[in-house]
Amino acid sequence: MNGINIGLIGAGSISELHLQAYKKQPDVRLSAICDLNGDRAREKASRYGIPQVYTDYRDLLSDPEIEAVSICTWNDTHAEIGIAALRAGKHVLVEKPLCRTVEEALQMQAAVRETGKILQVGFVRRYDDKARLIRRFIEKGEVGDIYYAKASILRRLGNPGGWFADSSRSGGGPLIDIGVHMIDLCWYLMGRPKAVSVSGNTYNRLGNRSNVRGLSFYKAADYDASLNTVEDMANAMIRFENGASLMVDVSFTLHASKDEVTVKLYGDKGGIEAEPSLLIVSEKHDTILNIEPQIDHKTIQIEAAFQNEVKHFIECCRTGNTPISPVEDGLEIMKILCGIYESARLGQEIKL
Ligand SMILES: NC(=O)c1ccc[n+]([C@@H]2O[C@H](COP(=O)([O-])OP(=O)(O)OC[C@H]3O[C@@H](n4cnc5c(N)ncnc54)[C@H](O)[C@@H]3O)[C@@H](O)[C@H]2O)c1
Repeated sequence: MNGINIGLIGAGSISELHLQAYKKQPDVRLSAICDLNGDRAREKASRYGIPQVYTDYRDLLSDPEIEAVSICTWNDTHAEIGIAALRAGKHVLVEKPLCRTVEEALQMQAAVRETGKILQVGFVRRYDDKARLIRRFIEKGEVGDIYYAKASILRRLGNPGGWFADSSRSGGGPLIDIGVHMIDLCWYLMGRPKAVSVSGNTYNRLGNRSNVRGLSFYKAADYDASLNTVEDMANAMIRFENGASLMVDVSFTLHASKDEVTVKLYGDKGGIEAEPSLLIVSEKHDTILNIEPQIDHKTIQIEAAFQNEVKHFIECCRTGNTPISPVEDGLEIMKILCGIYESARLGQEIKL
């Protein structure tokens, strides 16, 4: 396989980062783009020099020249489009979350196994250079056995509206949208232990606060604040088979003084503060050391992370190697996310 032809489905906000990343890959051609909104697809096609434009993803999938697709659509379409793409013989890079339910995730896993095609889940934080550095340190035993992790992604104002705020299309609010990144990153860095139980709470106390003025935030391409059926805040405790635990809290809005992103991992030999700024904590000669790695970027570089993600996807398409974020990991994360929602609904811990 020399040049590889790519189709992109879903030409909204995040597609921009996929398109920029594909453009930078050698021997990769953006051949087709599809969106329900034809004008949106045409605008991106003209900016990125993409020859074919579709409004029905099935037409894009029927093009035999296209070998791989990026799926950047609403969460409720990931399973349907992903499975159709795999069955049409395409490799798939699907945006996070893998889908909305465990049932959908199992169907996607079955389709990957049935077709033998690549499916890479867009857990973009795994592909950040800093995450790779942290993994190297963990693999070399610098922090020992990680038994506790803690992550927060708190927006004081940031409900993206539109489909994100419509639980039938999104599957949920900040937990499935941004919490998914935090849970996945911690779980990945902890060595992907098996989750055995979850206990969660969700709150819908503040609504989307579309009345607030003077602050900008990420919005769906079709921003609409009139519908909001998702939680505005969630927290959870996740227990793993190896005894480790992960505590997480997330919000689209909260009466917090500022936005907050923290990711911390604690082992029996040392700790790692991954966000907001990288710090490695250690003990030597009866002294605690806070070690500050000297690297260009101490916080996530989102555009570079997307480039690494897309580069890895292309490599997997070429070599047939399993991606570092395979469908199996997407499924495990769906079990955790859906378990948290179920726990919050029932007001009790859920065994997975
Ligand atoms: N990795 C990240 O950091 C990150 C960030 C934002 C969004 N996302 C994910 O990317 C996906 C898209 O999010 P977004 O912010 O771009 O949303 P968006 O609303 O801006 O864009 C989604 C686009 O998909 C199109 N679409 C929906 N269903 C379609 C279908 N069946 N066929 C063709 N087009 C269809 C819509 O018309 C819209 O243009 C979501 O799954 C979201 O969770 C990931």
